[in-house]
Amino acid sequence: SAAELSEILDFTVALARKAGALILEGSEAIRASGAMDEKKNSVDLVTEYDVRVEELVKRELSAKYPSFKFIGEESYAAGARTSLTDEPTFCVDPIDGTTNFVHGFPAVCVSIGLISGKRPVLGVLYNPFLDQLYSAVKGGGAFLAHRGLPPARLPLAKPRPLPSLSQALIGIEWGSDRSADMVNHKGESFKRLEGNPAEGVVGGRMAHSLRSLGSAALNFGMVAQGGLDLYWEIGCWPWDICAGSIIAQEAGCLVAGSHNSPLDNDVNQEVLEGRKYIVIRAIGDSETEKGTEAQKRL
Ligand code: IPD
Repeated sequence: SAAELSEILDFTVALARKAGALILEGSEAIRASGAMDEKKNSVDLVTEYDVRVEELVKRELSAKYPSFKFIGEESYAAGARTSLTDEPTFCVDPIDGTTNFVHGFPAVCVSIGLISGKRPVLGVLYNPFLDQLYSAVKGGGAFLAHRGLPPARLPLAKPRPLPSLSQALIGIEWGSDRSADMVNHKGESFKRLEGNPAEGVVGGRMAHSLRSLGSAALNFGMVAQGGLDLYWEIGCWPWDICAGSIIAQEAGCLVAGSHNSPLDNDVNQEVLEGRKYIVIRAIGDSETEKGTEAQKRL
């Protein structure tokens, strides 16, 4: 119910801030020590703080909501395989933007999502470096609280129509899969969008530009607030997108998963473990088609 979600939101917001304090402490420690490990390759980084923050979040969520299931990036890396059911399930990335975290680039967040009936129903993203907290519950709108100011409803300004991709500021990421296929595929898309007007994007011109924040979740937040028109990525995991997707949807954005399946259909395992996501800023009905068109072009 709305009352239950609002109570869970209060708890997860406080927990995200607590996790954020540990992230800040960890950032100093890791930058001083350089202690990090590689997962599948030399750009897929993990630190002891990814594990410590996840332990903190998992411990507190399990104590407060013992019947809820839990999916987390580091638990998954350690072998946990929670299958997605209709039961309430927390979906957590303790440090989204680990590469930023180890470099001190201040786009890092803890991402706490809640899925119920296989749909994201609550999301909290907290970037402790900038003290930015994005939050949403299903049906309640999306909000951004920045540096102690009261939460502002998203998007921050009324969006103007986006006539074509050629006027868009687009969020992209190279991600951690650097296989030749992936790099070529993404590189071709980026070239088409950024620098090849003759080949044409939707509308026949290049996009205004591309941006990389280095955190999938914060890209969702940035589209939700209106700073990016669109974010497109191949290679996300459920914990990268769960909280961000409900925040973006509640801000009026279109969120679509792999195989063109909109995320507001059932979040089936395929979508959650899908490889391709797109989120497009607040759009009217007629622009939903452009979203689909954009997705085909990307
Ligand atoms: C990664 C970041 C990155 C995105 C990858 C994610 P992590 O998450 O969000 O921006 O390109 O797809 O896996 O490893 O920093 O939690």
